[in-house]
Formats: sequence, C-alpha cells, structure tokens
Amino acid sequence: MIPSGRVLVSIRRLCVLLLLSATILSLSCSAKRRAEDIDFPTEPPGLVVSSHPAASRAGLQVLRQGGNAVDAAVATGLALGVVDPFNSGIGGGGFVLVRLSDGTVFAIDGREKAPAAASRGMFVKDGSYDPALSREGPLAVGVPGILAAYEKALELAGSRSLGELVEPAVSLAENGFPLDRYGLSRYERAIEALRRDAPSARIYFRSDGSPLREGDFLEQPDLAETYRRIGKEGSDYFYRGEFARRLAAFMEAKGGLITLADMRNYRAVVREPVVGSYRDYTVFGMPPPSSGGVHVIQILNLLEVSRILEGRSGWDSHSVLWTSRFMSRAFEDRALYLGDSDFIPVPVDRLTSKAYAEEIVTGMMKRKAAPAVVSDSDGAARPEGGHTTSFIVLDRARNVVAVNQTVNLNYGAKITLSGTGVILNNEMDDFSAQPGTPNAFGLVGSEANAIEAGKRPLSSMSPTIVVKDARPVMALGGAGGPAIITAVLQVMVNALDLGMDLPQAMSHPRFHHQYLPDMLIVEQDTSLVRELEEAGKGLQMVTRDHIGVVNAIAWSEREKAYVGVSDPRARESSAWLRLREEGP
Ligand code: GLY
Repeated sequence: MIPSGRVLVSIRRLCVLLLLSATILSLSCSAKRRAEDIDFPTEPPGLVVSSHPAASRAGLQVLRQGGNAVDAAVATGLALGVVDPFNSGIGGGGFVLVRLSDGTVFAIDGREKAPAAASRGMFVKDGSYDPALSREGPLAVGVPGILAAYEKALELAGSRSLGELVEPAVSLAENGFPLDRYGLSRYERAIEALRRDAPSARIYFRSDGSPLREGDFLEQPDLAETYRRIGKEGSDYFYRGEFARRLAAFMEAKGGLITLADMRNYRAVVREPVVGSYRDYTVFGMPPPSSGGVHVIQILNLLEVSRILEGRSGWDSHSVLWTSRFMSRAFEDRALYLGDSDFIPVPVDRLTSKAYAEEIVTGMMKRKAAPAVVSDSDGAARPEGGHTTSFIVLDRARNVVAVNQTVNLNYGAKITLSGTGVILNNEMDDFSAQPGTPNAFGLVGSEANAIEAGKRPLSSMSPTIVVKDARPVMALGGAGGPAIITAVLQVMVNALDLGMDLPQAMSHPRFHHQYLPDMLIVEQDTSLVRELEEAGKGLQMVTRDHIGVVNAIAWSEREKAYVGVSDPRARESSAWLRLREEGP
C-alpha cells in the first residue's frame, strides 16, 4: 500500500514560485539547448553555478545578504540535497575545496567511511562478488560525511551560522518545488526501487500511488524538519543525536553495519591539497581518498611534457588518440596505487611529478604504441552524465569554492531513512569489493582500495581550482563517476590551451578512456567520431550520449569578467553568469 503522498500539484503555487524565481530562472535555467548570454539586471553579488537553478538561487541569496563564498557554498549544497536528491544530500559525502583571496587553500574531506564492522569480504557471497549488496540496501551505505565537511568549512572560513544557511533548503523542502524533465528522467530510472522502500514511496509518489510527473510539486516535510533540527542543533543532531539513533536502529533491524559509534566518530578531515603546475597555471585538486586531483594533474603533465597540443586550435584524431592513451595510463595508475592515504601509502608526489610524466611519455614514444584499443562491446562502461553533482561559488573578494558531493549512484542505496526524508548513499560500491573485479562504473582497483573498517572508498570527484598570477582563473568540478576526471580535464584544456570560451569549452564533444574496459568512448554524433573513423586506423569506437556533467567558473580575458557556465548535458540548459570586475 502506498501511504498518503506528499506531492501536490498546485497551479497557484507553481505560478507564485515562477514569479518569485523569474530573475534567477532567467539567470540559470534557460530552457534553450545552447548557451545564452544573459546580463544581470544589476551587478551580481558573485557567481554560483550548480546543476539546479533553485540551488544556485539559494547560494546567490546568501551572497546578496553579505555572506562569503563558503557560506554560499554550504547553502547551495544543502539546497541540492532537496532538489536533486538523486545526486547528493546529507546522507552522502563529498569534498570541499576552498581558495581564499589571501591564497590559503583548504581541501576538506567529507567522504563517507566504511563502518567499523566492515570487512573486505562483506560483498562476497559463495566466493564471488555480489554487486547487489554494494549497490542497494543497508550494507551499501557508508557513514555520511558531507554535513561534517560543511561544518568544517564554516569553522575555517565561513561568516554565517549553519542555522542561517539551512533556511533556503528548509523552505524548498517544506514548500516544494516543481519536478523538471531532468529530475524526472533520473526518477524514472529508480521508480521500482523507490516503490519497494516504504519511506521513499511516501515521498516520491503521488497520493494515489501513481508515479510523479513533470511539473508535480515535490514537498519533503520530513527533510525540512531534519534540516531545521540541524539548523538548531548543528551536526550534533545528525552525528550524535536523533538522526544517528534512528540510523543505527534501522541498520540493526535491517542487517546493516553502521552504529551510533560510527556516527559519533565521524570527522571531516582538512587535507593538504594536491598541487601541480600546468604551463603558467597552478592547479589545486583534491588529494586521496579522491583520485581526482592526482589524475587531473597527471594527465595535464603528460599533455605538457608530450607537447601534443602545442600549436593546435582544436582537437584532431592525433591529439585525441594520444590524450586517450594518457587517460588510460592515469587510470591504470589509479587502479594500482590509489586508495585512502590514511590506510595505505599513496605515491602522490611521484604520480603528479613532471619527471614521472617524462618517463611515461618517453616510454610511449619509444614503443610507438598502437593507438588506444577500442571495441564496441556491450560491456562498455557508461560514463553518463548521471550520478554526483558539482558546484562552484565565487564571491566579490575572489574567495572561490569548488564542491563535489554525491550519494554515489542514482538515489544512492535507494533507501530513505524513515521519518527523516534523507536518502542514504551507496558509496561502499566505490571500494574494490574484490580486487580486480569492476564496480558499477567499470572501475577496477587493487588492495589499495580494498574494504577496511573506517576506510574511505576511492573517489573520482575532482573539484579543481586554477590560479595564475595569484588570482583564480578557473574553478570547476564534475559528475559522472570516472568521467569526472576526463571531463574536468577537457574543459580545462579546451579553455586554457585551445582558446575556447567557457560555454564552448563546456559544450565541446568529449571523449573518455579509463584503462579498463580498454576502449575509447566518444560522445555520439560528433565530428570527432567521423574524424576518428576517417583516421583509418581500424578503430571501432563506443559512443555515448553524455560524458560527464561539469560546472565551471572562469576568467574571460575577452570579456574582462568572470563567467559561470553550467553543463547543458544535465538540464539541457546552459547559463552564462558574468561578474565584471578588474581581472588578472
Ligand atoms: N561516487 C562517485 C565518486 O566518488 O567518484
């Protein structure tokens, strides 16, 4: 039986909301496929670029009221947990990369952790890995971390309280928001699983039990109350109070592992960012347990050392094939060496060094190796736009924040914790459940990423900040599992090397190689596909609709303004937001 629904279709409310949000919709939710240049009616207080206009609006509102980029990032992230619960939320984890205008950089790790009772064989049944266990249900859930990361960011550099910053999210959860086409497409992929989970069914179906439709208002009163309590009691409510008790009781009843002690012991960690140089730029990224920072910098080093992009104004088959081999090599290293550096030594310095890049490039050139091996196998990884989210905030003082947050796969473990409205992650699938066996993203790993009690699973999330002459010139992050790394890389290269402006850099067709499965994946119906075919190297390619979803802010020398662009691959809308000021 489907209990009484929370969904109201209210034309009146829709009209009021549209009216209230007309300004922001015009800023960040253009319904057009192509990027559109929209000027602010008044000088904006800063830039917020996320995959949902209501979340961007929450962040902009905080900036408008005098909050800084860290404050606005927390408000945006909390709001995304309401409007895009299939991608992220407080039941998940993430990374917050902050660069203050004085040059200080914080890399805050709010990645989920394996519970204390977790063990390396927990997803192995009768000798083989059972993916159902690591993807759906209570065993799939890692101890959530993003809320602790927000709190840490506010403690280090915020100027507003969590209580204030939670307000836009409370209001979105309580008053509801209309489900758009993109949200609906993600929902439709999870309908059966959400129906099986009674607390999810209460939220995500109409009162007559039928599925939600585009334009339906989704109200989440339990989530509003959870946020309200967090606003009053801080993360204590979540990690030590009623939320933690409910979660522990649920886990005990359903055969999950997370205990009250796991929640109480969770801490966000401030880590040293990974730092690299690329031409005249300094690149800051997230260190392990993310592989993102290491491999974005490693592939940039390989591009720089090989000079394959020198003198080029666009991608051609030669540069695509070489870059795909560099991607493959980086993912091979990811599989061998990357894991939680609190548990295993990760050779970050070596992997991100120019000397190592020289060694790899010299070896590849000597071997004159064949181009990337490709195949059209059905088993190909699907680095689609789904899963995870990223957002970027820049304030007038040029403090910049890049956040990647996730519940892992679509709607995480497909569990809503009863009475809280919170979707629980399935981040345990990001471990190598059985070294050498691929996870949901087709990624293989080794001992380095094997499950251990208290360990963080390896991530590909790549919040990245690029600095030149001591000023931020680009900040970005992405969604799409392993494609986060390669999509972020390509947006950077398109803008920094190939002279594209940010909307072009964003919408340009992408390619992806992740070592295993050994194949080149290319966005379909592109001239790139034709060019690679014509290169006559006997290649077969796998094409995909979308490779990653990126959000970015970059300094435009031509416009003398910071420009923010959201990826049209998510909501088929791409907004230009501009912040004019004296630039670097
Ligand atoms: N769950 C996706 C990632 O962290 O890479």
